[in-house]
This record gives sequence, structure tokens and C-alpha cells, in this order.
Amino acid sequence: MKKHFFSGIQPSGKLHIGNYLGAIKQWIALQDQYEPVFGIVDYHAMTVRYDPAEMGERVLDAAASYLAAGLDPSKSILMVQSDVPEHTELAWIMNCITPMGRLSRIPTFKEKVRQHPDNVNMGLFDYPVLMAADILLYKSEIVPVGEDQVPHLEFTREVARRFNAVFGETFPEPAEVLSTGARILGLDGVNKMSKSLDNCIYLDDTDEDIRKKLATAFTDPARKRRDDPGDPDICNIMNLHRVFSTPEEQKRCAEGCREASIGCVDCKKILMGHMMEMIAPLRERKADLLARPDDVRDILRAGAERARPIARATMDEVRRAVGVSVT
Ligand code: TYM
Repeated sequence: MKKHFFSGIQPSGKLHIGNYLGAIKQWIALQDQYEPVFGIVDYHAMTVRYDPAEMGERVLDAAASYLAAGLDPSKSILMVQSDVPEHTELAWIMNCITPMGRLSRIPTFKEKVRQHPDNVNMGLFDYPVLMAADILLYKSEIVPVGEDQVPHLEFTREVARRFNAVFGETFPEPAEVLSTGARILGLDGVNKMSKSLDNCIYLDDTDEDIRKKLATAFTDPARKRRDDPGDPDICNIMNLHRVFSTPEEQKRCAEGCREASIGCVDCKKILMGHMMEMIAPLRERKADLLARPDDVRDILRAGAERARPIARATMDEVRRAVGVSVT
């Protein structure tokens, strides 16, 4: 029997190339070796204000993106977190062994408090515990994620260690798996590509969207004119070339930049061609899937049905270990 691992994405807007290169692409590559559980983590998305009327659409949109990117429901389990109540059940038990001081030091919590000072709710504080429960419920040994999630994985290992020490050996300590695209910067060239910063190229952007966004994307700020030499090491376009372009193209662009023999416009054109090539089939497959939402719903329903017995088996073991199972 293949091992499972869990990885997830919040349905908090459309997915961008950071999500794809940092996470989804790795998931697809691992689905022959494992039987992975890919979750659309809607309970996590409730930690910021949202419109309940839009949540369902966002979940379907994320599911269609996963499927369009190559997630194969005959190999992987695609599910919605709230369809498997064991996630929150395990989170409660993990809450009871987690010191509050430890949670208050998690960098993503501090960042969210800065972003939403008027909505610092318990869910936001507890977010990493629910994430640890997602991962441990399936006894994940690996978790493919982007670099921003590493502090959460460190925390998850601590939770596993603490549970095992208090209640007996139950969980493995999961390791993060990072790809070369583990930290994709946004078009501003400074911040991580992120839905909340509006600096993204989305997986369903049209060629025209991509062209417009790349035209204004930041390069080496010191390179003001075409004839000025640039520094490819600090240019975000060059960074993106490292994930999208061939080694020869990367060499040509980096050397050309230093010698001012290639301008930013031409350098961006090469990148643009590769981006469009990658995104076009994803966009078309996604549109096709969203045109038949009932098929996507069926896949999610079947995914939850496959996830539940795995989650239940872990919870039976956990309930016995913590001493609440008397029947
Ligand atoms: P989320 O929804 O913010 O992002 C989903 C995945 O995409 C990766 N990612 C990036 N990778 C590279 N460059 C970027 N600019 C970039 N932006 C996002 C993220 O690292 C992540 O892998 N807390 C999680 C969701 C979650 C989860 C889990 C993940 C809940 N439970 C259990 C793994 C396992 C989050 O907010 O991801």
C-alpha cells in the first residue's frame, strides 16, 4: 500500500504561478510514488473576513486549477478540508498540548496581525495547529510546500514530538520538500508573489494579461537605459528565467544583461514565451472543467470519501492514546 502525505492550498482567490511552481508542480510529480491527499483548506481561509456566498466558487476554482495542472484523481485524493471533520477533531487535541507562547512567535501570525489589525481572531492564532493536524492526520513523512511554509513545518514536527512524548509513539516527524521554485517573487521584484499583494501572474491569465504584467514588471532598478549594463543577480526577471528558461537562454540573458547587449524588453520576451506556453494549456483545461462544475463536485465528493477512512483510523488510534475512547 502506498504511503500518504497531505499538502494544501487556501481557496482565497485564484492560484498563481508561485503556488504552481512552489507546490502544485511537486505534488503532481509525487503522485506515482505516494497516494497524496491534496486539500482545499477552506477552514483555514475562514481566519480572514470573507463573503460566504463566494466561498463555494473559490473552492471549485481551486479544484479546477489542481486538476488542470495535472492532478490525477485516480492516483491522488482531492478533497475539501471541511468535508473531513477529523481535521478539526485532531486540531482540538493538538491544541491541548500546544503552549500559547509558541504560537505567538510564529512569523505568519505576526504578519497577519499587521495585515488585519482589526480582526485578530482565535482562528488566526490557532492556524498552525489546524495545519499540523492536516499533515499528521495522514501520517505524512514529507510535505511539498513553498519556502514560506517552513516555519509551519517546524512547528508541526514539534507538535508530533510533543504528542509522541506525552501519549506514546504515534506520528512521524514530517519533512518539508522544497522545489527550485520554492520562493517566487511577485512582479514588484521585492515581495513574495501573493494574492493579497496583487503582484501575481495567475494560472488563468490570458496572453494579453501576461504581456501587460511583464511589461511593467521590475528589473534591476539601477539599469535605467538600454545601454546601461545590468546586474542579473538582483533582477527578478532573471530569477524567473531560472525556473522557466533553458540553461542556454539563462546564460545568454545573464551575460547579455551584464554587457548591455540584450535589453530588458528582449529578455522579458523570452520569459514571456515560456510563461505563455506553460499557462495556456492550464487555462484551457481549467475553463473546460469549470464549464462542468458537477463533475468537479463529484471528484471532490469521491475524494472526501477516500480520505475519511484514513483520517478515521488515525483518530481511533489517537483517541485510544489520549484515553478518551471507552467504548
Ligand atoms: P497557501 O494557500 O498560501 O499557498 C499554497 C502553496 O503555495 C506555496 N506558495 C508559494 N511557493 C513559492 N513562491 C510563492 N510566491 C508562493 N506562494 C505560495 C505555499 O508555500 C504553499 O505550499 N498554510 C498553507 C495551507 C495549508 C497547508 C496545510 C499546506 C493548510 N494546511 C498542510 C501544507 C500542508 C497556505 O496558506 O498555503
